[in-house]
Amino acid sequence: MTPAVEFTDVHFAFDDHVVLRGISFSVPPGSMSILLGASGGGKSIILKLILGLFRPDSGTITVRGQRVDTMRERELLQLRADIGMVFQEMALFDSLTVAQNVGYRLFEESDMPVEQADARVAEILGFVGLGEYGERMPTELSGGQRRRVALARAMASNPSLLLLDDTTTGLDPLIANTVNDEIVKLRDLEGVTSLFVTHQIRDAHYIATHRAERVDGAVRIVEAGDTSAAGVRFLVLHEGQIHFEGSASALLGSADPYLKEYLYKTLPPW
Ligand SMILES: Nc1ncnc2c1ncn2[C@@H]1O[C@H](COP(=O)(O)OP(=O)(O)OP(=O)(O)O)[C@@H](O)[C@H]1O
Ligand SMILES: [Mg+2]
Repeated sequence: MTPAVEFTDVHFAFDDHVVLRGISFSVPPGSMSILLGASGGGKSIILKLILGLFRPDSGTITVRGQRVDTMRERELLQLRADIGMVFQEMALFDSLTVAQNVGYRLFEESDMPVEQADARVAEILGFVGLGEYGERMPTELSGGQRRRVALARAMASNPSLLLLDDTTTGLDPLIANTVNDEIVKLRDLEGVTSLFVTHQIRDAHYIATHRAERVDGAVRIVEAGDTSAAGVRFLVLHEGQIHFEGSASALLGSADPYLKEYLYKTLPPW
């Protein structure tokens, strides 16, 4: 199967500030990968390289088998149309309503009939629990609600690949979990491939240990028990390299000194 995303020996620097020192990894289609690593390590750069917003100094990057590191701007625009991205900065358009934000691509960048776009926006807002909020302005929402709007916007055009940058940082644990639940639903019910950058080990662990199921038409989030059950893969970026790649249980059980220290400092004592 062609990987959804594949990096092969990618190097990237801003002038003499080296960020990536030859990284290779792949994201299988239909999978969820969680990318962890220290602040300033290059996680957001990796997502921006996937979108072709930056170009690597060497190495190759493919999305669904297509080379993005050498792709022309026009093809990149087409490629990005099928990628949902929640940027870390999460810029919503403050002068547009929630519904206009969520449907932006559908209204502005597709030839979808307006009624159909409206219906999709209503559906997706319901999906993130904001069905009643379409006519509000972003400034009239809480931080967690704004994040859910950003997620809804990324999902609205049914992208096959979702890139999430620090979607839950700064949220209280209950609101973070409502966002996590949406991510779990997308993975398990919609089969979306995702690459999720986070600092929140707690959220990463929650996503790796829960799954969504549909029972009598209603969606439930249940504990998967075994940490490998959801099939989530972890990648840890450290000193410009992929320092670890594996399951949640392999990560938690690792004897690697850097990982032990990193997890010790970020995990509650569980
Ligand atoms: N536009 C830019 N110009 C110059 N340096 C940059 C630019 N963007 C990022 N950097 C630098 O590249 C490095 C990697 O940045 P990046 O944003 O990928 O980090 P990150 O892993 O996402 O960190 P965080 O967890 O804090 O979001 C950092 O040292 C940062 O200062
Ligand atoms: Mg970042």
